[in-house]
Amino acid sequence: MSSTQHGGVTVFLTGLSGAGKSTIADALVAGLEADGRAVTVLDGDVVRTHLSSELSFSREHRDLNIRRIGFVAGEVVRHGGTVVVAAIAPYEQAREEARALVERHGRFVLVHLATPLEVCEARDVKGLYARARAGEIAGFTGIDDPYEPPARAELVIDTSVTPLEESVARIRAAMDAPA
Ligand code: ADX
Repeated sequence: MSSTQHGGVTVFLTGLSGAGKSTIADALVAGLEADGRAVTVLDGDVVRTHLSSELSFSREHRDLNIRRIGFVAGEVVRHGGTVVVAAIAPYEQAREEARALVERHGRFVLVHLATPLEVCEARDVKGLYARARAGEIAGFTGIDDPYEPPARAELVIDTSVTPLEESVARIRAAMDAPA
């Protein structure tokens, strides 16, 4: 394969709400598209609008959400496509199921955005942490619902200490690394 050809690959960004998943996904996708690569983006909020609108945030439904994302990503990768996923995906088993669905057809790069909870909560872009602390949202990840850190992420990035451009560059390097 020449340097301008790519097999299918999924970059899976996992981490707490406010960890930087969508910000990094946007910058990553912009760079890939500028290089002429078509990208399928599966962002948790968007998937929950169009593909998983009936799902709650119970463990069962979160796992189903991630399994659906893994299936779609695998189908795109099967045809040599590039996928960027941004989802909390708090459970190890569901992430590994998504990995298996993709790795049947191509490469899977799991990126753990390990931004500390205190930083995510201080950012509180959507005001959801404040609502969770006030008891208005039950089962909010990091507050009263678990996040299992990945045991085998290809990359671990703390966005509170890593500049956006560096995060994107590290992911691009991991995407292009030989399997
Ligand atoms: S996942 O757990 O199923 O992977 P997903 O990434 O799709 O979650 O959706 C997370 C988004 O849903 C958050 O960014 C937040 O805006 C919203 N949300 C609403 N309720 C919750 C909750 N209880 N826990 C986490 N996120 C929530």
